This record gives sequence, structure tokens and C-alpha cells, in this order.
Amino acid sequence: MASSSSSSPTNHLIIYFFLLFLSSQTKHASSSPWSLYACYRYIIGFGDSLADAGNLHILYPSNPPRFMDLPPYGETFFHHPTGRCSNGRLIIDFIAQYLNLPLVPPFYNEKNSSVKGSVNFAVAGASALPDSFFLSRGVAIRQANTSLSDQLGWFKNKYLPKFYQSPEDRQNLLDSSLVLVGEIGGNDYNHALLDGTSKDLVGTFIPEVVGAISSTVKELIQLGAKTLMVPGNLPIGCSATYLSQFKSSNKSDYNPKTGCLNWLNEFAQTHNKLLRAQLDLIQKENPHTDIIYADYYNAAMRFFLSPQKYGFSKGALTACCPKCGPYKLDNPDAKTCDVPSQYVNWDGLHLTEAAYSIIAKGLIKGSYTIPQIETTCANHMFNRSYPTPPRIAL
Ligand SMILES: *[C@@H]1O[C@H](CO)[C@@H](O)[C@H](O)[C@H]1NC(C)=O
Ligand SMILES: *[C@@H]1O[C@H](CO)[C@@H](O)[C@H](O)[C@H]1NC(C)=O
Ligand SMILES: *[C@@H]1O[C@H](CO)[C@@H](O)[C@H](O)[C@H]1NC(C)=O
Ligand SMILES: *[C@@H]1O[C@H](CO)[C@@H](O)[C@H](O)[C@H]1NC(C)=O
Repeated sequence: MASSSSSSPTNHLIIYFFLLFLSSQTKHASSSPWSLYACYRYIIGFGDSLADAGNLHILYPSNPPRFMDLPPYGETFFHHPTGRCSNGRLIIDFIAQYLNLPLVPPFYNEKNSSVKGSVNFAVAGASALPDSFFLSRGVAIRQANTSLSDQLGWFKNKYLPKFYQSPEDRQNLLDSSLVLVGEIGGNDYNHALLDGTSKDLVGTFIPEVVGAISSTVKELIQLGAKTLMVPGNLPIGCSATYLSQFKSSNKSDYNPKTGCLNWLNEFAQTHNKLLRAQLDLIQKENPHTDIIYADYYNAAMRFFLSPQKYGFSKGALTACCPKCGPYKLDNPDAKTCDVPSQYVNWDGLHLTEAAYSIIAKGLIKGSYTIPQIETTCANHMFNRSYPTPPRIAL
């Protein structure tokens, strides 16, 4: 570890400046995770099934168990289901590992959230907009009271008051945290589209969804967040679930290079474009905060364009476990694949650990964070002598 409890604050500063010096010397050379480690001590996460590491499982236990609480979920890294919607680690897990931090524990966990420091509020099935929005439009709610505003409420009204009562404690936490707001918003469209709501009506949700994400970002800044990473939507037109549900006999509905559905990818890009524009505005209003857009769409598009190049020998569009996911695919009787890392798609809707790891690497070490996450490091000097809380093993 770069900072051990036995070294003095002066030593920390020297190490810090040395790392800054090193990173300035190697600006365009391959990046070292150590400079990032010097920046962020904690990760605070919000989101949906792309980031849920077990909240839904504890918050709303289900009998019979939900799909993600059964094997083969979790088979690859954890060797048992953890509540994650994949065979292994998610993007947030890889971000933590790239930053040399422990995996981010879910807020709702067996230990009843007896944890300070890094925390993950993401819930599978969560939407960006509140339940009332969907109820008034006749779209069924998957998980009540888990939307982005509910998650922010847990952070503000449960987590902070329990663990960070003093303003100094709070500021120390938020100064040294990377706050990951999403991916969120995907379900606001998924649930409506997959339930049969017309794409024109769902298109009118986009400004509302982006508004919900933006107002959460603003509120987190008000609370003291210094570095926020806000992901956009994935290319949903490449999702096996959508490809199955919105199959078309018209060839020109598909991208000839990827086989993905154009209208759905255009939908995701419209969301992303609007989100980026809002984030730019918030950045201008808050010059002392770093707001990083995480380009999940293009980070993922690389392997949809060239699956073989990234080791996905079975292509990018078929699911490893077609009978696993929340929606039925065309071939529900198909067997689970033997080698998930040969597949991009895990269960129709969610991706494999291998795909998530490539996206995360593209964010942290590549050019898919805007501004590049490493360039934001030098802006934040937090109090390094502040005690690090004990970590829980996952
Ligand atoms: C966790 O909290 C819930 C509600 O606050 C309580 O009912 C339950 O007994 C607690 N579980 C443990 C293991 O402490
Ligand atoms: C969600 O919250 C509302 C309002 O507090 C409550 O009436 C409802 O029972 C909650 N639903 C669930 C599933 O907890
Ligand atoms: C096929 O789709 C294209 C664009 O998606 C559209 O312009 C064209 O009219 C469609 N053709 C038919 C026969 O529906
Ligand atoms: C940094 O944290 C330490 C330990 O809590 C505290 O004693 C010190 O006053 C803090 N320094 C600043 C500049 O806030």
C-alpha cells in the first residue's frame, strides 16, 4: 500500500508529490494505477443491475430465489451467487481493483451495513426516475422504492448520519471518494420497451431520465462530492434480449458491421448525448468539482465491432446462459456455455465478467472517461493522515 499508518504526514506529502511528478513525467506513457490510488480512498456507488453487488438480495429477499441468486451466477470469480447479475465481477468491481481498493461492499449486506468507507447503493432493477413516474404511465415497477432518489436518500439519511456525523468527517470522506452515479437510467427504458410501450412514448422519457440523473449529481455536489463519474447507457441494440424481442425482417434495421439494431443504439446515443450536455453544464457551474463522463457505449462498442480481437470467439450477440436471465430468449432450452469469457453477453440483458473487465479497463486505463480519470487526480488533495476505517472481507 502507498500509505501505511506508520509513516508521517510529511512522508505522505513527499510520496504524493513524487507520484504527481512521476505521473506528469509519464503523461502519455502507460498509466500506473498508483497515481490513482493516491487520489481515491473510497468509492461510493449508485445504480442498477450493472452495479448491484447484493443489495436487492438483502433488501427484498425472495422465495423462490431470483435468477441472480442462483448458479451459474457468480461462478467465475466468487464461485457462488453474490446477487450480482453476471458470472463474475462487474464494472464497479474492476474499477475498485484498478484503483487498488477493495471491492465495494453493498449497503444492504449480511452485516447490516456496519461499514464505513466505500459503499454501494445500486439495486438490480432500479430506475433513475421515481416509481410515481412509471405508475402514472402504466409501466410496471420491478423493484419498488429503489430508484436513484431512494438510493440517494439511503446515503443522506441512513449512511451519513450513522457513520459521518461531524462535518469534518463527511468532508474527509467525500474529498477522497470517487462517486459513481450509474449506470442508471437503462431500466427506465428497458422496462417500458420490453413491456411493449411504444418507442415514441419511451423517447419522451429521455429528458426526464437525464434530469433525474443531473439533479442527483447536483445534490451530491451540494453534499460535498468532489469527483463524480457518470456513465452513459450501453448499446442496447446489441443486447441479446432486445435482438430477440425486436427481431426485424427488414435488413436495414440492422448495422451490417455489428448486427445490432440501429434504432435502439440511436436511442441509447440520444440519451448519452443529452446526459453529456447536462454534465457539461453542471461542470461549468461547479469548477471545483470534477465531473467525469464514463463512455460505456463506445468502450463496449469496440467488442461489438471486433469480438474476436477481444477474445470473444463466440461472437458478441448470443448469450452464454440464454435461459438464465429475466427475459425469455428465442432459445430458452439452450445449455449454459462452458467458457463464459468467450461471450460478451451473459444472460441476454447483462454482460459477462470478461466484457465488463474490458469496459472498465477502457475507462481507467484507456480513453473512455471524459476527462480522462487520471487527469483529475491532481485536483484533489485530501487529508491523508485521516484514519482509514477497517475493511470488510467480501
Ligand atoms: C438487520 O436490520 C434489520 C432491520 O433494521 C433487523 O430486522 C435485522 O434483525 C438485522 N439483522 C442483523 C443480522 O443484525
Ligand atoms: C414503497 O414506499 C411506499 C411509500 O413509503 C410504501 O407505501 C410501499 O409499501 C413501499 N413498497 C415496498 C415494496 O416496500
Ligand atoms: C426498412 O427500414 C428502413 C430504415 O430502417 C426504412 O427506411 C424502410 O422503409 C424499411 N423497409 C420496409 C419494407 O419496411
Ligand atoms: C487531518 O486529519 C487528522 C486526523 O484526523 C487531523 O488530526 C488533522 O487536523 C487533519 N488535518 C487537516 C488539515 O484537516
